[in-house]
Amino acid sequence: MRKQIVAGNWKMNNDLSQTEALITALKAQIKTTNAEVMVAPTATNLWQAYNSLKNSEIEVIAQNMHFAENGAYTGEISANMLKSVGVQTVILGHSERRAYFNETDDMLAKKVDAALANNMRVIFCFGEELADRKSGNEENIVENQIKNALFHLEASAFKNIVLAYEPVWAIGTGETASPEQAQDMHAFIRKIIANTYGNEVANNLSILYGGSCKPTNAKEIFSKPDVDGGLIGGAALNADDFFAIVNAF
Ligand code: PGA
Repeated sequence: MRKQIVAGNWKMNNDLSQTEALITALKAQIKTTNAEVMVAPTATNLWQAYNSLKNSEIEVIAQNMHFAENGAYTGEISANMLKSVGVQTVILGHSERRAYFNETDDMLAKKVDAALANNMRVIFCFGEELADRKSGNEENIVENQIKNALFHLEASAFKNIVLAYEPVWAIGTGETASPEQAQDMHAFIRKIIANTYGNEVANNLSILYGGSCKPTNAKEIFSKPDVDGGLIGGAALNADDFFAIVNAF
C-alpha cells in the first residue's frame, strides 16, 4: 500500500524565531492522521526544527542538497550534513531550483544517487510550464524529466522515492490544476513507471500533487485515485491551513 503524504515546503521563509512560532502552532494542531506529515524549513533552521519536532508525528525534511559528499562547493550542503542534523528526506528538483539555480536533469540524477547512497528518502519534483501545456506537450516534458533523472535506478530504489507533480503554472499563482488534470497526469506517471519497473513498483509509489493546493481544494484533489497527497507551499506557512489540508484525507 502506498503512503499518503502531505509535505510543507516553507521555501525561503521564516527566520529562527518565526520557525519556532510556526512549529509551536503546528504542534498544537497535530491529531492522529493516516497521512505522513512533513515540513521543510530553510537549511539554517533544520537542527532547531528537528529538535522541536523529534518526538512528534511531523518529520523535518530538507529543501535541497548537493550531490558531492564534501569539498570545495561554497554555499552547498551535503547529504551527510543533512543527516547529521536529523534529516532523512530531501526535496529534489523543485521547479524554483530548476528555473533560478539552473538545476538540470543530469545534476538531479546525481543528487538522487547521492541521497539514496546515504539512505535518504527523496521527494522528486517535476512538472511542465504553461507553454508546454498550451501546446499539448505536458506529458512529453514530464516523461523526460522523470526518465532523465530516475530511470537509471534499480527497481528497489523506488521504495525511497516519492514523486511530486507540480505544474509550474500552478505554483504560487493561485491557479490550481483541476482535480481531473491532476488525476490524468498522475495516472500517466504511474503508467510510465509501470511500463519500466512493473506494476508493483508503480502501485507502491506515492505521487503527490503540488501547486496552489489549499484547504478549499485539497479534499477534491486528494480524492482522486492516483493522487497520494500534496507538496504545499504558501498554505504550509499557516498552521491552520496546513492542517486543514492534512485533514482533507
Ligand atoms: P504553492 O507551492 O503551494 O505555494 O503553489 C507549491 C510548491 O512550490 O511546492
